[in-house]
Amino acid sequence: MKKILLVFGTRPEAIKMAPLVKEFQKYPNIFETKVCVTAQHRQMLDQVLEVFEIVPDYDLDVMAPNQDLFDITSKVLLGMRNILNEFAPDVVFVHGDTTTSLAVAMGAFYKRIKVAHVEAGLRTYDLQSPWPEEMNRQLTDRISDYYFAPTMGAENNLKIEKVPQEKVYVTGNTVIDALLMAVDIIAQDKSIENQIVKSIKEKGYVFSDKRIVLVTGHRRENFGDGFLHICQAIKNVAISHPDVDIVYPVHLNPNVQKPVFELLSDLDNVFLISPLDYLPFVYMMQHSHLILTDSGGVQEEAPSLGKPVLVMRNTTERPEAVTAGTVKLVGTDAKIIEDNLNLLLKDKELYTQMSIANNPYGDGAACSRIVQVFI
Ligand code: UD1
Ligand code: UDP
Repeated sequence: MKKILLVFGTRPEAIKMAPLVKEFQKYPNIFETKVCVTAQHRQMLDQVLEVFEIVPDYDLDVMAPNQDLFDITSKVLLGMRNILNEFAPDVVFVHGDTTTSLAVAMGAFYKRIKVAHVEAGLRTYDLQSPWPEEMNRQLTDRISDYYFAPTMGAENNLKIEKVPQEKVYVTGNTVIDALLMAVDIIAQDKSIENQIVKSIKEKGYVFSDKRIVLVTGHRRENFGDGFLHICQAIKNVAISHPDVDIVYPVHLNPNVQKPVFELLSDLDNVFLISPLDYLPFVYMMQHSHLILTDSGGVQEEAPSLGKPVLVMRNTTERPEAVTAGTVKLVGTDAKIIEDNLNLLLKDKELYTQMSIANNPYGDGAACSRIVQVFI
């Protein structure tokens, strides 16, 4: 029996690790599978655990309001010590580029336990962007034993860094496994759709025949001026396009909540709602005209739904959809964001070009490929 420990802490890690948990649990005779959540996020993590019906075996419950990077790193590292001693897993799975991922990987390394890194090899090679995620991902890759690269581009980065090739597996991104599960559930029957529409209404948005611009944003490097510029652009577009609804499920980080609510609360066609559960969020993406975001996961999901995405960052470690033409980097300059939004809302030809569905990030079978490595 191989002892597998999957550890995650934030909303995107949970979405991308949930299908992997489910896949390991299909083989109870081969794996003793346990889940540990650090709860770097609390409410936004619990939303995902509920949707995927995952009950963690361990919960470090580290989140504190307005926590900083010292808080998270030290609490997670210390918290992992007991769990790694108690369960003594053969392999610890971490995901992506959060502070949870790095601190857990360090803990496993200190205990000489093998680290499997899901979503390995993505790079901007700019340590300031995304900050601190680029550093988190690079360091996690330095101490991993198994590398699950979502794309050939990520595999190539690892090759350039001289990671031994036999340790690298190109699997596709598990986010597409999660997305396809969600799309299937939504399509199952009308009552599920009705429930979703009702839950979105309860959060404050009622669908009409208006086009929807869906917004998400939370990056640390955009705090301060970046968010002020983003909000200014959204405000200008809302005023000049009363025929468009702008729906923004606002991240719970106080550094995001403050500027967004201060600057955008009093506009009739801007709907600031609390974070949506995963199924309603996928439904919202499906029914949006276009998406404005700085999120990593949304950049990967939207192309397979055929939705154009404007990314409010200057760099991306996910260049594949930019190359395919469905994602455009627009930075955080208010005028540039506004101009690009206006153009996509007006220029039908450009809109159609950017809406061609493509799937550079996976085919929905990433988790099965990962688990097969250990069978
Ligand atoms: C974290 C990750 C980032 C990831 C993002 C996904 C790091 C350094 N950052 O950033 O890589 O893209 O999650 O969303 O690992 N909060 C709540 N409830 C929640 C979640 C957050 O109240 O469920 C508030 C708390 O005040 C918390 C703050 O948001 O202290 C910041 O959370 P934190 O995880 O430190 O940063 P994120 O910006 O969410
Ligand atoms: N998401 C969600 N509800 C929301 C906003 C986003 O479920 O209200 C999902 C989205 O589908 C994607 C993930 O959360 O899978 C992205 O998380 P986030 O933007 O917080 O982090 P990032 O991907 O930038 O690390």
